[in-house]
Amino acid sequence: MKVLVVGGGGREHALCWKLAQSPKLTKLWCAPGNAGIASVAECVALSAVPDLVAFAKTHAVDLVVVGPEAPLVEGLADACLAAGIRVFGPTAAAAALEGSKGFMKDVVAKAGIPTAWYRRFTDITQAKAFIREKGAPIVVKTNGLAAGKGVTVAMTEAEALEAVDAMMGAKLFGPAGDEVVIEEYLEGEEISVFALCDGTRAVFMGAAQDHKRVGDGDTGPNTGGMGAYSPAPVATPAMEQGILTHLIEPAVAAMAAMGTPYTGVLFAGVMVTKDGPKLLEFNVRFGDPECQVLMARLDSDLLDILLAAAEGCLDGVSPQWSPDTALVVVMAARGYPGTYEKGTEIRGLDAAGAVPGVVVLHAGTARAASGAVVATGGRVLGVTARGKTVSQARERAYDAVDRLDWPQGFCRRDIGWRAIARAE
Ligand code: AMP
Ligand code: GLY
Repeated sequence: MKVLVVGGGGREHALCWKLAQSPKLTKLWCAPGNAGIASVAECVALSAVPDLVAFAKTHAVDLVVVGPEAPLVEGLADACLAAGIRVFGPTAAAAALEGSKGFMKDVVAKAGIPTAWYRRFTDITQAKAFIREKGAPIVVKTNGLAAGKGVTVAMTEAEALEAVDAMMGAKLFGPAGDEVVIEEYLEGEEISVFALCDGTRAVFMGAAQDHKRVGDGDTGPNTGGMGAYSPAPVATPAMEQGILTHLIEPAVAAMAAMGTPYTGVLFAGVMVTKDGPKLLEFNVRFGDPECQVLMARLDSDLLDILLAAAEGCLDGVSPQWSPDTALVVVMAARGYPGTYEKGTEIRGLDAAGAVPGVVVLHAGTARAASGAVVATGGRVLGVTARGKTVSQARERAYDAVDRLDWPQGFCRRDIGWRAIARAE
């Protein structure tokens, strides 16, 4: 089978790394890929939807696997289907579960899924009046995609009003802020739960916890994720099953009933509150860096299960997992999530990758003309380790981190602290 993976981050390196282990794979491309992905796939410098579809047609690609949400919201899956190409990922209408928070909340509320109360606003005065009525803490979100920055968890009323001004008044996020969703603040521990969906069925595809704040002890500004681990010990298998049954399956049924069936991976951001798990949001893709730890633990052939989802045949499919814990430490460029330097050289990658149980996945790298690997993004590497316990996985990951020679990079030193505290 010939497969094209779309994207070029750590998530896509993890997907390519796992797909490359499939005995059914004959050829793997990644668009655009990165310097690490180039060791397992042929990277092609494409990103526009028509170019990707034309490439898939010309090269008789059997399956297109879409990593990030943006091309899905733009209609990449629709364009593949129209061209007769199999695709793993939802159509644009189904990707609206992530592309429009208002739409997602309407679907979720109608399906009776436990979630935060909410209201949608296109009028700034009414939005502010609602905040004053409800008081803080309260959460303000842009309706549209804002590269992960469109959410303000406001601990004070003033902060919430400021967020509305930034989103709807100053248009800090462009048209994504034409509408906002204002919702209840939920307190608890957050987990990421994944399900493979084939339009009518959903099967459990693992759970993980990530660390969103940039600093040790979960302090400082939010990032795309500085590390993750799986399994997530806060969730028992019974809780995971309950999340599938009560939070995910009703959404898949609702989408099918609306004539916009959901195919691909559905990522439920879940808050485990004192009243049980509640849905924070849906994403229409694997998490990054959660995908890195899921792939490290997956025993099943990834190509088989992605294909089954794309073909509407998940009946009887049950992904198999190693009982090991996997943990990823993200190495980012100093300054991230603010401004940072690009083009700095990373050494010691082979030494790091030689630690038992470790794979160094690349998130933002390129190969310079000199042959050196250089950093090109904010999040640059995902040092991923497997171990019998979370402590062993963490020791291995930091052993590998310490073998890297990249003075312009940094990482958190406490990834997995909640899981380790629980284990102890
Ligand atoms: P999102 O971009 O929707 O993933 O939101 C970013 C982060 O904001 C989430 O991962 C949560 O940590 C936090 N968040 C979102 N919605 C809520 C909420 N209703 N209550 C508390 N925290 C939230
Ligand atoms: N790590 C969270 C996300 O991918 O949205």
